[in-house]
Amino acid sequence: MKEQWAEEALEKVRKKIRVTAEKNRDKIPYKTDENGDYDDNSDIREDGSGLDWWTNGFWGGTLWRMFEDTGDKAFAEIAAISEKKMEACFDHYYGLNHDVGFMYMLTAGADYRLTGNKESLRYLLHAANLLAGRFNPAGNYIRAWNDVWGHNTGWAIIDCMMNLSLLYYASEITEDPRFRNIAKLHADTVIDAFVRKDGSCCHIVEFDPETGKRIKSMGGQGYGTGSSWTRGQAWGLYGFVISYIHTGIKKYLDTAVKIADYCIKNIPESGLIPIDFRQPEEPALEDCCGACIMACGFIELSKQFEGKEGAAYLEAGKKILKTIVDQRCDFSLDCDAFVQNCSVAYHSDGHNVTMNYADYFFIEGLHKLEDIGSFYW
Ligand code: GLY
Repeated sequence: MKEQWAEEALEKVRKKIRVTAEKNRDKIPYKTDENGDYDDNSDIREDGSGLDWWTNGFWGGTLWRMFEDTGDKAFAEIAAISEKKMEACFDHYYGLNHDVGFMYMLTAGADYRLTGNKESLRYLLHAANLLAGRFNPAGNYIRAWNDVWGHNTGWAIIDCMMNLSLLYYASEITEDPRFRNIAKLHADTVIDAFVRKDGSCCHIVEFDPETGKRIKSMGGQGYGTGSSWTRGQAWGLYGFVISYIHTGIKKYLDTAVKIADYCIKNIPESGLIPIDFRQPEEPALEDCCGACIMACGFIELSKQFEGKEGAAYLEAGKKILKTIVDQRCDFSLDCDAFVQNCSVAYHSDGHNVTMNYADYFFIEGLHKLEDIGSFYW
């Protein structure tokens, strides 16, 4: 699987991140500003945009990956700083939501996996219990977000497929199947309520929280109702591969294949991923963050097949990552982040921005190609 271009890219990553990690050691960054400097989300903010922000695990996750890659303990030390800070979110409580999987799997989860740290285990199990507590047995879904956009108790989102790994890991550690059973029920609901016949996925689905009846889907961060937000397709693709890896349930693999085949049909020749596969031609908005997640999903999916069967998925993953390396990556010290041209949502001002999770999945993807590091999901 090894690729010369991927190894060369990783060498540049190693060089740059030694500097940026040290420069930002006391921060929990999300994105860079106009000077290329990282912001900081280390403080509790009532609107949830600070220490509770859902992307806060990706900085630690990136550093744990680099610790595994280089053996340099400085990366582990800096990762542990953000993990410790994020303990305060449990006390604050109100800012936490379905994204505790993203937040704690890549910090506490990676730490526990790699070092056996007992404090990390406590964070991890606390987070798993919060996630399990969001499950609604009427409708069999894990509730998304809190009441930020009205009283949306019936909302679930495709992104949450990635948070299920926290539940699988909690069951594995505690040998208590409750967490895994909740994850499976949610994944089954997503197959029925989110994944369309052609393999495209809705972003948000609203259920009646009393009866569980599906009410409607919403465009969410994509172009509109019935569209195909590419980062959502990526969360679904990778999320179903992860559910298959943890359960061996064939319909999860089949669903990942269905989403992957749909994506392959819609990826432009350029290898650059739009924000939505169903957006108008102009403006040609793109999302390199979704691209990196999709690449990870493709590569992991390819590993589930013997011989040549998964080759098309591996090639799709490689093509996306190579396009990012060649055209959308800043390996210089002018910008703290690597991956450029990310998008928050189709209908937002956040286009052509950097995002810490784009960098996380970019590095995870390169590591997959080079067989470096552990599987954190
Ligand atoms: N809602 C999570 C994301 O932006 O991908």
